[in-house]
Amino acid sequence: MRRILVAGNWKMHGSRAMVKELLNGLLAGTRNASEVDMAVFPPFPYLSEAQTLLAGTSITWGAQTLNPIAQGAHTGEVSAGMLLDFGCSHVLVGHSERRTIYGESDEDVAVRFEAALAAGLEPVLCVGETLQERENGETESVVDRQISAVLKRSGIGGFERAIVAYEPVWAIGTGETASPGQAQAVHAFIRHKFVSQDDIIAGQLRILYGGSVNGSNAADLFAREDIDGGLVGGASLKVEDFLAIRNAVA
Ligand code: 13P
Repeated sequence: MRRILVAGNWKMHGSRAMVKELLNGLLAGTRNASEVDMAVFPPFPYLSEAQTLLAGTSITWGAQTLNPIAQGAHTGEVSAGMLLDFGCSHVLVGHSERRTIYGESDEDVAVRFEAALAAGLEPVLCVGETLQERENGETESVVDRQISAVLKRSGIGGFERAIVAYEPVWAIGTGETASPGQAQAVHAFIRHKFVSQDDIIAGQLRILYGGSVNGSNAADLFAREDIDGGLVGGASLKVEDFLAIRNAVA
């Protein structure tokens, strides 16, 4: 049976003091072993705090993006090797905010996914449609296109050690969650796409749902067959809210 993963994407939020409080609160609240894995994705400057406080605990951490180049004259960028230096095990790639605000194309995302794998990081590939695309009936074709770009570069083998997060853009930060049925339908579509290439990898692949997950809707979402956890934004910034999501399934 797959283990549920509850992951917190803090986006560009926090301060040193807040990060300390949040991580200590999460550690205090996760002392009892549970069937749920937890991960946090702080902004770059707080990765060192994560490493200090989380090393040797059951909570893993990662970054929100990476530059695919190993090193060089790329002012402001951070490489996979640097993330490894701070103990990261995971990295998000292709979050919709990276795609829309920073113009990352499907190909850019595929290159980042490949670079993460090559460095030994486990990429979390984020995919999802906008409201307009959903209304146009393009949800499956958009998700298919986003995943195909990565498959083309890294192959199905690349998903042996990767996670997919389905995050409908219209549900991110809006308080409007996809219904468990809506989310499950897309998750099943995604799983099926992988099954057609390798049913063992597809069966083991964790597909997270993201978009206004909270303590009240998590249990219903994660109970669905193909929803293996959540990528949580806003509700991962408060200890009680994030733990409520974990405890909804623990
Ligand atoms: P919210 O949970 O705030 O909707 O954010 C979801 C998200 O984008 C996680 O990556």
